[in-house]
Order: sequence, then C-alpha cells, then structure tokens
Amino acid sequence: LKTELTQMVEQATDLAALDAARVAALGKNGRITALMKNLGTMTPDERKETGAALNVLKDEIADLIARQDAALKKQAMDQKLAAETIDITLSPRPERKGHIHPISQTMDEIAAIFADMGFVINEGPDIEDDFHNFTALNFPPGHPAREMHDTFYLPDDPDAVGEAAKKLLRTHTSTVQVRTMMKQKPPIRMIVMGRTYRSDYDMTHTPMFHQCEGLVIDKSTNMGHLKGCLLDFVRAYFNIDDLPLRFRPSFFPFTEPSAEVDIGCSRKDGGLKIGAGDSWLEIGGCGMVHPNVLKNCGIDPDEYQGFAFGMGIERMAMLKYGIPDLRTFFESDVRWLEHYGFDP
Ligand code: PHE
Repeated sequence: LKTELTQMVEQATDLAALDAARVAALGKNGRITALMKNLGTMTPDERKETGAALNVLKDEIADLIARQDAALKKQAMDQKLAAETIDITLSPRPERKGHIHPISQTMDEIAAIFADMGFVINEGPDIEDDFHNFTALNFPPGHPAREMHDTFYLPDDPDAVGEAAKKLLRTHTSTVQVRTMMKQKPPIRMIVMGRTYRSDYDMTHTPMFHQCEGLVIDKSTNMGHLKGCLLDFVRAYFNIDDLPLRFRPSFFPFTEPSAEVDIGCSRKDGGLKIGAGDSWLEIGGCGMVHPNVLKNCGIDPDEYQGFAFGMGIERMAMLKYGIPDLRTFFESDVRWLEHYGFDP
C-alpha cells in the first residue's frame, strides 16, 4: 500500500492531481482512513501493532504530499519567473519634457529687470473699448492714426453708451496707461505685459502679438529719466554693458515729444549682431505723456508729468535668441518649442 500511495503522490504533476491523491489516501473515504476504521474489529494486540504502523504510514504520506506540494509550487513559480523576465539591457525611450515658451521666458526676464528698478506690474483686459484704446489716448474721433492700427472691432455692447459701447481687441497695451492713471494717483511706476491685436499677417506681423509698456508719472520726471531707464533696461536685457541706445524723433498722439527707440548693432554679410556697431535697430516707441492724456485720465498736467514706452515682446525675444520668423511663435510646432523653448 505504501508503494502504491507513494507512486500516486509522486505521479501527481499538478496541484489538482496532488489534491486528488491526498483525498484518495487520507480523505474521509481514503485508503488509509478505511484501514483505520477497520482497527475496531481487531484484537487488542493486532490493533496496537497495526494502528502504530498505520500512523507511521499516514505521517509519511502526509509528509510526502507536503513536499510534493512545495515542489510543484516552486516549479510553477520558476516557470512564471522565466516567462516574465524583464530585459534590463533594453534602453528606455527618451523622456519628453515640456518647455517654457520663449514669450513666457522673455516676459519673465523683462519683469525681473523692471521689478529691480521699482516698477509694479499691472494688467488690463484684452477686450477694450474705443475710449481706452483711442480717445483717452488723444486719438480724436476720425483721426488718421486710428486707421494705422488695423483694429479688430467687436459688435457694439448694447448695455453701454457712446465710446464705451464700441468694443474692440486692444491694439496696444497703452490702454493700461489710461486704466492705471484713472484709478491711481501719482507717483506711478508700472509696466504692463500682455496680448495685443491688429489685423495683419506676414513675416513680421501676426494678428495677435505681445507688448510690454511702461509708465512713470511724478512731479519732475523728464526725458532724461526716460532715456536712462531704457538704457539700463536694454543693457540688462541683452547683457551688454556698453550697448548704445538712441532716440529718433517720431509721433504718437499720446506722447509729446515722441521718439522711436533704437539700439546699436552691426550688420555684416546679411547677419545681425546686437551691440556697439555700424548700424541701428528699432525696438520700440516712447515719449513724454501728452498733457491731454493726463487731463483725460484726471491727472493735473500742471502738477504732474511723466513718460511712457512700449515695445514688442516677440521682437525682443527674436533679437536675443536669434529666432528668424515671427509667425513660428504661434504655430505650436513641437520641434520649434523644443529648439527655442527653455527648460523649466
Ligand atoms: N503704443 C505704441 C504702439 O503700439 C507704443 C508706445 C507706447 C509709444 C508708449 C509711446 C509710448 O505703437
């Protein structure tokens, strides 16, 4: 019987067969159990001898089943491990990181420089009205300078009257000059950075672009302060200590006198290099805030005066980082973003 049961256990090649063998040997109706039940019919001496032998056999078989069980489980685990091996020599796919857009980077750099000079950062809405974009800034109704802005007009606001009803996308951030002066008494020293809109599209124009605008109003702020401020700014921004800056006479309805701001550069073999050189490059406009604008915004021009300046953020980014085409800023081409973007 021992040989027979041993063989049965050893031939069990999976856990289900092993369990069947356990039931056949040790179960309620198993072979050993049946012999145990038989002990009652024996004489005391026979019973003693057979009982002891059966107990030994029972223990041996139980032990054998336990060992076979462990062996089968180990075998199953080994098979599983062999099948699921990870090949750690396979190089991983490169991780793709997001980048900071050059516009965001440039705005951060500009903000940091003006913050050092004591400017606060203000903002205003992209959807404006005729008053804040033009009239308050001394563009009289019908003035030809309005046409130069290629304005996107929106449907009139039925809840407003007059100039406030004429809605548009702001064509410049100068609107925030007006908003700031109307709610804050001088001294004022602030910059604005934000989106602006004009209906135009080519190598150097996109219908949406970004401007940075500065405004300083105090009792004796003058044009020398304006030039010094911009000079410090461009030298810090381009990180060139002797970068020259010049003013060229210009016209804006909201400043008088007005100037175009140029920085030095050299152009050789079709290239462009920022720095002291043989040539000039325009980066923005500026001037002393027109007395009419101060009046329109509730500030007494006999007591206060100041300056304003504005520049294109894309242009500042293109010049510093050598980005050739403005339109690519807004095409969301991942290869462009990986190339010109910044690590967070
Ligand atoms: N708002 C002007 C423009 O968009 C720039 C400017 C700002 C000029 C402030 C003078 C003063 O062209």
